[in-house]
Amino acid sequence: MNKYDSETVASQLVKAGYQLIDDWKKADLLLVNTCSVRQHAEDRVYSRLGVWLKFKREKKPHLLIGVMGCMAQKEGGNLFKRFPDLDMVIGTYHLYQIVELIKEKTKEGKVLKTEEIEEGEPPFPCIEVRENPVSAFVSIMRGCNNFCSYCIVPYVRGRERSRSPESIEEEIEYLAEKGVKEITLLGQNVNSYRGFSSLHNKYLDFPDLLEEVNKIKGILRIRFTTSHPKDLSLKLIKKIKELKKVCEHIHLPIQSGSDKILKLMNRGYRVKDYLSLVEKIRENIPGVSITTDIIVGFPYEEEEDFLKTLKVMEEVKFDAAYIFKYSPRPLTRAYSFPDTVSKEEKERRLHLLLTLQKEISTRINEKFVGKSVEVLVEKKESQNWFGKTKEHKSVILKGGDNLLGKLVKVKIFSNRKGILEGEVEKIPTLSL
Ligand code: 5AD
Ligand code: SF4
Repeated sequence: MNKYDSETVASQLVKAGYQLIDDWKKADLLLVNTCSVRQHAEDRVYSRLGVWLKFKREKKPHLLIGVMGCMAQKEGGNLFKRFPDLDMVIGTYHLYQIVELIKEKTKEGKVLKTEEIEEGEPPFPCIEVRENPVSAFVSIMRGCNNFCSYCIVPYVRGRERSRSPESIEEEIEYLAEKGVKEITLLGQNVNSYRGFSSLHNKYLDFPDLLEEVNKIKGILRIRFTTSHPKDLSLKLIKKIKELKKVCEHIHLPIQSGSDKILKLMNRGYRVKDYLSLVEKIRENIPGVSITTDIIVGFPYEEEEDFLKTLKVMEEVKFDAAYIFKYSPRPLTRAYSFPDTVSKEEKERRLHLLLTLQKEISTRINEKFVGKSVEVLVEKKESQNWFGKTKEHKSVILKGGDNLLGKLVKVKIFSNRKGILEGEVEKIPTLSL
């Protein structure tokens, strides 16, 4: 989501005549888009700002420096108290006014823009600046209503708002014209998407939206993230199976394998609900890849709760898991809970889960060796083409001339350090 936001900001600036450069010391404007999900992300921003502001004071007084996104939203004017030389603080609701806001700054003193706008649909400028020419993010909704007790997102990104299907389709058609082949639909909880379509004169849910997006010419693959387990419907499972372009990959954060912790987290499901959902998904979508997020060291997580998480990981065998140490966030409900698990213990639990997941991912990848898979080629890195399978497995390719943006048939011959290696067998000429 942050990457998408950064790209929309960069795109607006480029359209207004700004130029993106690699060497930050040569820039006249430095913006940092920020994340508040864990303290570590904030600490990195503070240290980066320290370096930039020192450079401004000592070498380049006219340099404009701005903080955007979640930290700007959360901290507001406090950032000016901590960093008096900072010029702009632009919250999550105002990223679409970046060009005007910079103009405001050149006339008046500092810019502080953090008021919440819950009404109406924010404009989604067409993205011109993308890191990846083949695969692009498209935000379909904003905010979150779930209030998981550890999570700051609802406080810094506000209530859930869905974009209209027409505006989403327009953006994807634009991307397809620019050569994009794969899109990832983004939302904090895509399963609660509900956008009013003026064309159909009714609200579309997420499976309906997938059906519409599946019709867009030039797009070969559709991905989406994130799915909240409490809202993932059978209708969606059936659509993933039925729609050709929708990849067989579901990111389904479990967060913990203990019912006691899930309750404290306010997740709205029990472990057995999660397991039966996984069973339903696997029954309906053969070969589906399921990935997850897990937090270790949540308040009151005892050894027995942690062991339950280990057990669930062994049972489900996720294709991949993003594992985080719990980080207390101000504003959230869990912030008032005592941080009962020591730093060292969080570290130990993290390490154990990472080790187990590595073993599981390696075993799953092993099954691909000797098989033919379809890969969408995304980039060239040191002489080799690189792409992903439908299940979101990374593949390094041997052979092939210009494969960028092509869907190729690849025979996998090895599995090294979590990355599959394969030989190009066939480059199909058909496009979906
Ligand atoms: N501490 C640690 N991890 C967190 N996440 C969200 N909030 C926190 C927090 N306070 C994790 C969750 C979520 C992912 C995006 O970040 O696992 O799914
Ligand atoms: Fe945060 Fe929970 Fe919303 Fe995800 S669903 S953004 S974890 S509050």
